[in-house]
Order: sequence, then structure tokens, then C-alpha cells
Amino acid sequence: MSTSKHLIAPSVLAADFADLSTDIQMVNESEADWFHIDIMDGVFVPNISFGFPVMQAISKYAKKPLDVHLMIVDPDRYLKLCKDSGADIITVHYEACTHLHRTLSAIRELGCKAGVALNPHTSVGLLKDIIKDIDLVCLMSVNPGFGGQKFIEQTYSKITELRSLAAGVNDALLIEIDGGVGENNIAQLVDAGADVLVAGSSVFASKDPKATISALKKAKFTSFI
Ligand code: DX5
Ligand code: ZN
Repeated sequence: MSTSKHLIAPSVLAADFADLSTDIQMVNESEADWFHIDIMDGVFVPNISFGFPVMQAISKYAKKPLDVHLMIVDPDRYLKLCKDSGADIITVHYEACTHLHRTLSAIRELGCKAGVALNPHTSVGLLKDIIKDIDLVCLMSVNPGFGGQKFIEQTYSKITELRSLAAGVNDALLIEIDGGVGENNIAQLVDAGADVLVAGSSVFASKDPKATISALKKAKFTSFI
């Protein structure tokens, strides 16, 4: 048994919007690796979170990379602004991009890591012809738009399928899981091959968020040989 090197990305969507600096400071001081920033437009998803001015404010205090999840239509229009607002990783939705190759190239030209998110109904196999051009695939384990939803169990088989799709073509690919992740399922997700675990309500709604982040970070990777 060994501790794996998975990354924890607390989702600011579940933070206290009236006292963001306190929550950002908590994440800075915790064992978390990234900040996960959910931007929603009320069109691609049935909710609106916050936009780039708030993200700029977050980036002033954040001492860890900003992992930005764009749940918006036509993301190409906002890539530059997203980078200028502090993004390190920019993830767009497969379902929102007609010219995904062009969009990913534009993200990389800005100097950011390029991610693609898949809704729960979108097959991993659709990434076959683009997999080598992606730094991170975010598998949505809930329908995007809201925090605090129930984890969709089929995500485990999508992790396995994605890892074999990337094998030999893009071995550095990061697999991120977003939605319903907590202490109850993180070990199994890491065991299945997840690299980055987004955690919103399981962190911010807990009694001691910093301790919860440490517990998530220590999840054991059991199938180590
Ligand atoms: C959902 C967002 C998630 C959300 C996860 O659309 O993409 O990042 O904050 O929240 P939890 O961890 O509460 O499911
Ligand atoms: Zn997200």
C-alpha cells in the first residue's frame, strides 16, 4: 500500500461568497493543490455562478494554480480574458465546442494547460482523435451546474476507458473528476486512475475544511503493485 500523488482542487463554488478571502486563505494554508473555479453562463448550464471580475479578485489572494472550468457556450470569446484573470488551466466543454482542436490550440498559445470536460452522457471514445492535444480531461460525475449533487457511479468505468484510450499516446494526461467527490469515494476514484479530484461541498460544508482536505489528500491507493 502506498499514498498516491493525486491532486485536490477545492471548488470555490461552495465557498462563502460574502467572505471569499477567508476561504481562499484556508485553501492557501491547506494541503490542497489547486483552486477549482466554476464559471457558468446560465445558457450551457441552468445556473449562473460568477464571472471574471470575481475570478480576478480570487487570483489576487490565491497562492496555488487556478483550474478554471468554463461551463459556457462559445468559450473562444473569453479565453484571453480568462487567462488575464489568472487562469493556469482552462477547461472547456466538449459539448460547447464545434472546433475543439482550434480552441485547445488557442488555450495553449495563451500559455495555459488545456482541458476538456465531458458531461456524464458524453462517451470517452469521442476524444480519440484529439486525445494527444489535451492536458487534462475533466469527467463530470454529476450534471454540471450545481454543487452538492449525487456522484454518478458510471464514472469509474469512464476513468478506466479514458486511461486506456490515452495509453501510449498521451501518458501524461491528467484525469480530473468533478462532482460528488468526498471521503466516501475518493480512494476508489484514485484507485481507478483519477489524478485530480475536485471537491466542493465535501470540503466547505465540513466542520473543519482544512482537515477534510488533508483527509482527501491522504486517501490510499490500494491497487499499487
Ligand atoms: C458543478 C461544478 C463542480 C461543483 C462540484 O457543475 O462543476 O465543480 O462545484 O461540487 P460538489 O463537490 O459539491 O459536487
Ligand atoms: Zn467544476
